[in-house]
Amino acid sequence: MGLPKKVQIVEVGPRDGFQIECDFVPTEEKIKIIDQLSETGLQRIEATSFVHPKAIPQLADATEVMARIKRKQGVIYTALVPNAKGVERAIQSGVEEVNFVVSASESHNKSNMNMSIAESLKTFREAASIALSNGVRITGSIATSFGCPFEGWVSPQKVEEIAQEYFNAGVQEIILADTTGMANPLQVRDLVSRVRNELKDVTIRLHIHNTRGAGMANVLAAMYEGAAIFDSSIGGLGGCPYAPGATGNIPTEDMVHTLESMGIDTAINLAKLIDCAKLVQGLLGRELPGQVMKAGPVPWVSARQAR
Ligand code: COA
Ligand code: ZN
Repeated sequence: MGLPKKVQIVEVGPRDGFQIECDFVPTEEKIKIIDQLSETGLQRIEATSFVHPKAIPQLADATEVMARIKRKQGVIYTALVPNAKGVERAIQSGVEEVNFVVSASESHNKSNMNMSIAESLKTFREAASIALSNGVRITGSIATSFGCPFEGWVSPQKVEEIAQEYFNAGVQEIILADTTGMANPLQVRDLVSRVRNELKDVTIRLHIHNTRGAGMANVLAAMYEGAAIFDSSIGGLGGCPYAPGATGNIPTEDMVHTLESMGIDTAINLAKLIDCAKLVQGLLGRELPGQVMKAGPVPWVSARQAR
């Protein structure tokens, strides 16, 4: 399989990034960042999560964020949900797509969701039927798909089983998440092809963390297996508060830069994205992992973007 001609990037920084910041990012700043991200050409932004506010106090302002952002036409604002209550809150806030999460490792699921995988899947079926009957699209994430910080190796069969459960309940897009950046490119090729062969009608999306520096190599591997939707976070924000040692996703601006330099369309304005990364860095008052905002784009990417 060749490389895709275009790739869709889902910006997850406002959820995956802000949830792990030690200091609460003020609601006003979250809104400012999401609004600016909406102007870059991004088509999907995971704006927040409707989880228990005690589990993630950093996103306790989800309702207010969703009420006050400027909804840009053509941008889908999604939110992570753990259960039916989360879906109901998301629907009340006008969220168009919810992202459900189950972990492929029992210990991580227990630590993250306070339930077993079987209980999560039951919870999911209830949540999915509420979402779908309200016309809200649902995506299904499988956390720790490539390894677990507590258990180590995660069986690909377990990931396939969860993917199948998602598909049976009406999920059309499945997200294989490398929650703590444990994947290598060969493992990514193997898992993406397994899930693709098992569920031919499903869209496979990757949520990769760059914890051990293999992020872009893993994206390339997934593209060779036909994947064309990837999560990333502005500036490289992020991590999972329930996974020790977790760090951010691939910085969105770095991913856009690499893809565009390979001739793959992202439909995103890199200069505007770099401005966003600098804005986030300024607001948080610390250096973020993003590289391209420091080095600048190579000239042929700038030229391509100017066309
Ligand atoms: N939003 C707000 N409140 C919620 C909620 C939600 N999505 N889900 C449950 N609650 C409330 C219940 O109404 C109940 O309230 P009450 O005590 O006033 O009756 C209380 O929380 C306990 O409910 P329970 O179902 O027993 O939840 P729990 O305490 O076992 O927590 C989760 C389970 C899944 C809600 C919680 O672990 C969670 O939100 N995890 C998300 C973690 C996360 O976001 N991780 C990072 C992203 S992968
Ligand atoms: Zn993540």
